[in-house]
Amino acid sequence: MQTFKDKVALVTGSSRGIGRAIAGKFAAEGADVIVNYRKAGGSSQAQAEELCRDIEKTGRRSMMVQADIGIKNSVKDLFGVIRENFERLDYLILNAAKAPFKPIEKLFERELRQLVETNYLGNIFCIQEALPLLEKTGGRIVFISSLGSRFYNPSYPLGSMKAAMESVVRDCAESLRAKNISVNAVCGGIVKTDSFKVLRQFWEGIEALPEDMFVEPGEIADAVFFLCSSAGRGINGQTIVVDRGLSNAICRLTE
Ligand SMILES: NC(=O)c1ccc[n+]([C@@H]2O[C@H](COP(=O)([O-])OP(=O)(O)OC[C@H]3O[C@@H](n4cnc5c(N)ncnc54)[C@H](OP(=O)(O)O)[C@@H]3O)[C@@H](O)[C@H]2O)c1
Repeated sequence: MQTFKDKVALVTGSSRGIGRAIAGKFAAEGADVIVNYRKAGGSSQAQAEELCRDIEKTGRRSMMVQADIGIKNSVKDLFGVIRENFERLDYLILNAAKAPFKPIEKLFERELRQLVETNYLGNIFCIQEALPLLEKTGGRIVFISSLGSRFYNPSYPLGSMKAAMESVVRDCAESLRAKNISVNAVCGGIVKTDSFKVLRQFWEGIEALPEDMFVEPGEIADAVFFLCSSAGRGINGQTIVVDRGLSNAICRLTE
């Protein structure tokens, strides 16, 4: 039994890391998947190609589309490809993110603009372009947030954009309710993806966390799957935390 048979999902930033796990999960559940990435010609593109090949082997359709979500015309082109090739969209998973690891007060203007363009404007460009497709299918939007939305993380300006987007989730859930589109978020704990290799340089002691406090990409993917499946139909405007209890364990961790 495949939950998402004949459905179509776009996962932004899905060439690697958490987005890749979400794309794989949705394909395994029967969805056709659009794999998006930013950087043309490099290892990210090679990983997107490999993922699409793997998905196609399972009998589902998959297409990789290079697009920088922070650039409006690039997002328009991305959705042009979706309309032309898939003609529908059921799930928009807003996963792509990119930000420097630096204290906010030290960010150059260029870095600040990129922070907002990629991690706030880019997600909203995607929502705007997706609406005409999602309202036809009664679609679902899921944003991938992080604990930086609510707790201090060293040198992590991305947290401020995650907080803003969790607010956008609440806002859009209400304004898109009449179109039968639900909007939720999954707030992940710490996941050992490529970005963790950089995070650990700025967060002294993070590697001393008990191994069972690190979240697997598949655990985030399962929560996204839940929100998009019929089991999640009663949830709207919420952010679900998937952190293996890390944010609830401050006392235990300092014992
Ligand atoms: N890792 C964690 O501990 C953690 C925890 C909680 C939440 N999260 C969130 O989960 C999501 C994925 O994180 P991750 O660690 O898997 O990231 P990652 O390994 O750094 O991968 C990021 C992905 O996003 C793409 N991307 C970056 N900027 C883009 C843009 N402007 N347009 C389109 N695609 C873009 C990248 O493509 P290129 O390779 O081509 O740049 C790549 O596919 C992010 O929203 C992150 O904030 C991560």
